Amino acid sequence: MAKVRFHDTNEYIEDREAVQAFLNSQDVIYEYWGVDQLDPALRNNYAPTDAEKQQILDTFQKEILEISERRSYTTADVIVLSDKTPELDKKLENFVKEHHHTDDEVRFCVDGHGIFAILGTDGRYFDVELSPGDLISVPSSYRHYFTLMEDRKIIAIRLFVTPAGWEAIY
Ligand SMILES: [Fe+2]
Repeated sequence: MAKVRFHDTNEYIEDREAVQAFLNSQDVIYEYWGVDQLDPALRNNYAPTDAEKQQILDTFQKEILEISERRSYTTADVIVLSDKTPELDKKLENFVKEHHHTDDEVRFCVDGHGIFAILGTDGRYFDVELSPGDLISVPSSYRHYFTLMEDRKIIAIRLFVTPAGWEAIY
């Protein structure tokens, strides 16, 4: 379950309903899909083959189709970041630069953890700490950045409206 942390006060929202209510108030879509249906062989596998990535997408096909119809997402893929990723630190340096996109940025956390830091509508920056099973959609034009947590790894499904809409505007 996702947690929210405010940068200015270091306060957390951890209660499931309170997290959902806060993110709704910010127009950030949050859904909990869970990962119970995931084949255990696909967990903690940070070097998945293309076939295994497809297996991950197939596992969540129903949820992906449902949200894609609602939000006009057209494509999905799987991204993996870990210490096995070439030049991970260099990539992270880029991810922590504040930016926005012209489309929603949608991620479903399959394994590991990730943080989306988002500039809220009231000018306060907050983190959304994602755990396996969490889906987030950062609305278009919201300033934000991404980073990993202490485990320094994540497997996530990305959903796109258009590939061009996901280019970062710094
Ligand atoms: Fe982004």
